[in-house]
Amino acid sequence: MSIVVALREPDGETRAALTPEAVRAIVRLGHRVVVQTGIGTHATRNDGEYADAGAEVLEGAPLAESVRAADLLVHVVPLSEERIAVLRSGALTLGLAGPLDGDRRAALAAAGVVALAFEQLPRTSRAQAMDVLSSQALAAGYRAVLEAAIRLPRFFPLAMTAAGTVPPAKVVVLGVGVAGLQAIATARRLGATVAANDIRPSSAEEVRSVGATFIDAGVGTDQAAGGYARSLASTAAEAQQQAIAPHIADADVLITTAAIPGRTAPRLVTAAMVAAMRPGSVAVDLAASSGGNIEGSTPGEETRVTSSRGVGDVVVVGLANAAGDLPADATRLYAKNVSNVIELLTTSGTEGADPTLEVDPADDVLAGLLVRTEEDTP
Ligand code: NAI
Repeated sequence: MSIVVALREPDGETRAALTPEAVRAIVRLGHRVVVQTGIGTHATRNDGEYADAGAEVLEGAPLAESVRAADLLVHVVPLSEERIAVLRSGALTLGLAGPLDGDRRAALAAAGVVALAFEQLPRTSRAQAMDVLSSQALAAGYRAVLEAAIRLPRFFPLAMTAAGTVPPAKVVVLGVGVAGLQAIATARRLGATVAANDIRPSSAEEVRSVGATFIDAGVGTDQAAGGYARSLASTAAEAQQQAIAPHIADADVLITTAAIPGRTAPRLVTAAMVAAMRPGSVAVDLAASSGGNIEGSTPGEETRVTSSRGVGDVVVVGLANAAGDLPADATRLYAKNVSNVIELLTTSGTEGADPTLEVDPADDVLAGLLVRTEEDTP
């Protein structure tokens, strides 16, 4: 019987790798599940629910013993070296791995730990149910709009009242992947008019399909494998800035979500473009932690920029962990993604033997998730 362990995430992370529902699914596959006490506190799930689902809820020495014996440690944020070091050689880990530089790969190799990184999941139909980047981007895109709406000194929807007509807010979304599409849909549901831009050729149709206007910057880029964008050449980036600048100046709300996997986020909006927005406007940068789409945005902070259009400021919100600001549902989706990978890892033993967890290299999803260490890099 394999042992699956999940610990409380480090301070600052509100999500958990498992919910009671995920525990139940993993136990049903024939594994033992151990969770640390209080693992679901921020996600509003209590220890009793985890125990009822079949988990052993442990702390102190019994927990440490389970971690040392774990066949699989599931987690949300990248594991610290201390957490990796206590695992037995041959143990698996599954979660977000963060940037994998040479030192990190060497630490995994030294510990003999086999890491599976959600960032490396192939973007195929079969992998969708395991796609943490998508499930968390969905939460982040929704949250970004709410962060803007609550700070905007205006309504989002059109209001026709006896006291006069309030026009709908104008929202601009830059980067229309999973988070951007959800931001558009959320802003539309709140009644705003939305215009959006992305550099992937297929994005224009996607933008229109969710009820927004596409800002055609006349530039496009080839798509890399998996449908991701490639970086724009500097001339194209300038043309894009010129095309989006008037839309941003006219907007009440700007939401940016543009990203290139494994690279610093593209800088799309200069400080001058922010200052050209009306006083009271709000700009929310979902890419703040990976370099920022908006010049001057800081992860986890709200910055005020003097508007060149009159008295007052433009508010720039750098979101650090937007999905983590919705811990209950972000955890629900994350844990389901985790239990789906565990189902794929589970090899049922022959005739009465216990099921085990194995990375089948012939499975494209599992082979994609596998982090190559220095030792096994060809
Ligand atoms: P992401 O988080 O890597 O990037 C967000 C968006 O930023 C992308 O749409 C990208 O094109 C855009 N972007 C990059 N540089 C830009 C620039 N300079 N200006 C404007 N926009 C820029 O992307 P995400 O959300 O992970 O999705 C990427 C693609 O993969 C999308 O087409 C999405 O629909 C697709 N996808 C496919 C899945 C599947 O088939 N299983 C699952 C999830 C996403």
